[in-house]
Amino acid sequence: MKPYYITTAIDYTNAPPHIGHAYEKVLADVMARFQRTTGREVYFLTGVDQHGQKVQKSAAAAGLSPQEFVAGITEKFIALWDKLEVRYDGWAATTDVRHKRVVQAMLTRLHDCGQLYKQAYKGHYSVRQEQFLTDKERGPDGQFGEEWGEVIELEEENWYFRLSDHIEWLKTHIREHPDFITPTFRATDVLNALENFGGQDLCISRPVERLSWGIPLPFDERFVNYVWFDALSNYVSFAGYLADEVGNESLPDFNRLWPADAEIIGKDILIPAHAIYWSTMLHALGFDGDQMPKFLVHGWWNIRGAKMSKSLGNVIDPNALSDTLGADGLRYYLMRDIATGYDADFSEERVLMAYNKELAGGLGNLLNRSLNMAHKYREGQLNCSSGYDDEENAQLRRVVAEALPVYLEKMAAWNIHEGIAAAWKIVTQANQFVDSTQPFRLAKDPEQAARLDSVLHHLAEALLHVSLLLDPVMPTAMSKLRAQIGWQPPATFLIQNLTWGLLPDGHRLNNPSPLFPRLEVE
Ligand code: MSP
Repeated sequence: MKPYYITTAIDYTNAPPHIGHAYEKVLADVMARFQRTTGREVYFLTGVDQHGQKVQKSAAAAGLSPQEFVAGITEKFIALWDKLEVRYDGWAATTDVRHKRVVQAMLTRLHDCGQLYKQAYKGHYSVRQEQFLTDKERGPDGQFGEEWGEVIELEEENWYFRLSDHIEWLKTHIREHPDFITPTFRATDVLNALENFGGQDLCISRPVERLSWGIPLPFDERFVNYVWFDALSNYVSFAGYLADEVGNESLPDFNRLWPADAEIIGKDILIPAHAIYWSTMLHALGFDGDQMPKFLVHGWWNIRGAKMSKSLGNVIDPNALSDTLGADGLRYYLMRDIATGYDADFSEERVLMAYNKELAGGLGNLLNRSLNMAHKYREGQLNCSSGYDDEENAQLRRVVAEALPVYLEKMAAWNIHEGIAAAWKIVTQANQFVDSTQPFRLAKDPEQAARLDSVLHHLAEALLHVSLLLDPVMPTAMSKLRAQIGWQPPATFLIQNLTWGLLPDGHRLNNPSPLFPRLEVE
């Protein structure tokens, strides 16, 4: 089977990472880890978008060369992924010479087959924003607003891609491939946008006088490549596309890896960039329908319904949050409090609830009391030789068994929050099980010894199941949980084969220590 190829948007390097960037990369990492637990080979690519006007401007403002500037910001992204345990297999940095070679080869191919043409364009140009303006940018009074600064008439030659040649094909492709864009309502948005897209081609160059920080067009060095063409190509350039032709090394085997099983992007960059530009670029290069990537379009984290932005001063720093919650605590919050595809509201109250109530109070406390009781009453040893069983035990085993198929289905469909909810049913049931079986009472009655043994065994076993299901979301904490139980999965373990009976009679538990120390709230 081909490797599961999972990739994300590459982040702009004009500013340091914020919580939205972290969400997307953690989502991809959880998916990658989940696929691996099913035995699937995975290739996970992520990286940074280093060229373009925005970066050139930010670098100038910081008094640095673009190279120096992007190197500094790129380091911040890499350090954050390391801290959040985002473990990728490939790093897509668009200043990488291997990427540049492929982009130039792609441009040459498109040029050679007549898909690119040069044309002069005359229009209104915003000097401040460094972009041409269309009627869409006019205010209700018909004028270009103050935000555009000085607006001049400018005539400029540029290179265009015959995007309009591929629009009819794209419409048909979307209609015939319901799994092309997830969630489905986003595919409908694209079809609607395409209704008004007739006849427009895509300008894929910028004159070097205007933008020097980019990849030069191989057939006309007075221009550099438009940053979106450059950035979108990362999904294939770092997957080994044209590697032999351009002499690229240490990249995957493209024929094995492509197409992407999940290109994870935010809702803001589906239309037109990914759904329209990228799909038609690929089609023009000769990729057919079954060679198209699949898009997973996620929603946005907002702050009290408003967009996070530097100007509003409400940008959430994932570094600081991770220092407070731990990487696992942050990963858990980011995965449990949003429905994939929809927006969510970031709130400190919700963060604290997820951490203190669910992780510390629900799961951490369950582990702690289960191990404490086993040490107090049985010196940490599990005994199940008596064969004692009853309805309460059977009920807990049923909840454990029922969680797995739901979890597998939800996780495979990228619905991480529902996968977590399926696993959490075990936590809730196991806590109820402690309340109803009252092991501290059983411990006082010698006639209940076999029952107490069965209760302690059921708790430890149920906890192991939870830890395996939540492993992709909280890899370190779940491994620590298993270390306290004294059991780790063998290398050949596959999550779909998980069944009751991991812990043998006589198994020794290790000492408990708090997995999620409670956060004191002012
Ligand atoms: N560089 C382009 C993507 C090129 S992909 C070939 C870009 N970069 S970005 O840094 O602005 O955004 C990177 C990703 O972060 C995008 O998928 C974007 O949707 C996502 N997010 C940015 N803000 C976000 C939130 N507030 N919430 C969730 N995701 C957000 O676009």
